[in-house]
Amino acid sequence: MVARGVGGDAARRPLVGERLHGVARPAQLERPRLLQVLALEEQLGAGGAVERLVAQHRRAAHQALDTRGGGAHVGEGGQLGHDCRIVAQVVHPGVVAVSQPRMLVHLDGAVLPLEQARISPQDRGFLFADGLYEVGLAWRGRLLLWPEHERRMQAGLRAIRLPLDTAPLARAGEELLRANGLLAGFAVLYVQVTRGAAPRAHGFPEPAVPPTVYMTARPHRLHEEAFVEAGVSAARVPDPRWARCDVKSTALLANVLAQQQAHEAGAWEALFVRDGVTLEGSHTNLFVVRGGELWTYPPCNYVLEGVTRNVVLALARDLGIVVRDGVEALVDPAAADEVFLTGTTTEVLPVVRIDGRDVGLGAPGPLTRRLRAAYLARLDELAGR
Ligand SMILES: Cc1ncc(COP(=O)(O)O)c(C=O)c1O
Repeated sequence: MVARGVGGDAARRPLVGERLHGVARPAQLERPRLLQVLALEEQLGAGGAVERLVAQHRRAAHQALDTRGGGAHVGEGGQLGHDCRIVAQVVHPGVVAVSQPRMLVHLDGAVLPLEQARISPQDRGFLFADGLYEVGLAWRGRLLLWPEHERRMQAGLRAIRLPLDTAPLARAGEELLRANGLLAGFAVLYVQVTRGAAPRAHGFPEPAVPPTVYMTARPHRLHEEAFVEAGVSAARVPDPRWARCDVKSTALLANVLAQQQAHEAGAWEALFVRDGVTLEGSHTNLFVVRGGELWTYPPCNYVLEGVTRNVVLALARDLGIVVRDGVEALVDPAAADEVFLTGTTTEVLPVVRIDGRDVGLGAPGPLTRRLRAAYLARLDELAGR
């Protein structure tokens, strides 16, 4: 692809092994965006090519690129709002070229470029969502809390009667992190296992077919403190999910619809309500603080037993915080003193508004702050940093 520049085609030195997705052309940029491009350039230096997470530059890079109908756009894998690695290069004063390094994925024992990964349309993950997934955090190429994720996956595999030796996954995952050059900072490993490809029939294939194992790895950054300080809002939605929410199934349609509904209501997360009790988020566990005591829904078939949830509960107990059994405080979480969410990529995140009502003072509370600090310290400890 040829980069277009100011007043004609700008000569562009291609970045080895990378595809150019677009260039930002000042002529097409409104003034605020142009200023952002210039700020980005200043940071990169003329001729400079610097790898960055879009998250880091979310405003500057995305807005500069998202000129809609102009020369610039972010291509596949670089949709707005997603963390992805980009290489921004100042081609020419006023022209920023952006490319995304090739993403390598793991598929059934092989590591290959995403574009070359092929899964059969007969895969039961595609046809029936007959599979499971895990999302784990890594630091400098090393998986954190993997035994906890693996134990949950093993329990899920037993529940769906899918025999798979999970022992090789950790090594394969770390190889994938290495292959993608994710040896600095945090990264997220996604692992999905399905019952394999076979002609469509509800019952298990006979004879059994090999499971499909798919993994991706992407760079990750912890939340900016300003984001955490502001807190997020949540919207409660009825829980239409099946009665095995303890299984981390790839059948996430209810979660997808709930999250979309929350987004459309201007909220960051949806909270599922069943029989008048708020259970958990679409991709997070829910904690409530009332009178200095901590409440979260007990592990059972109606919630996913989050790895982060369990770390936070252990930290709370170490800090002498009373953890209550029962669900009373989860009936009306907006009336609690504090509310927060936990999750592998969510960390410990304060909820300051539910259905438009302020939680407590409408700002992160003291216990949430303490537990977030303890959780980040635990991550540091696990990472050995
Ligand atoms: C429904 C649900 N609850 C809770 C969580 C948090 O789990 P973890 O802390 O293991 O990421 C997730 C994570 O994806 C989830 O999907």
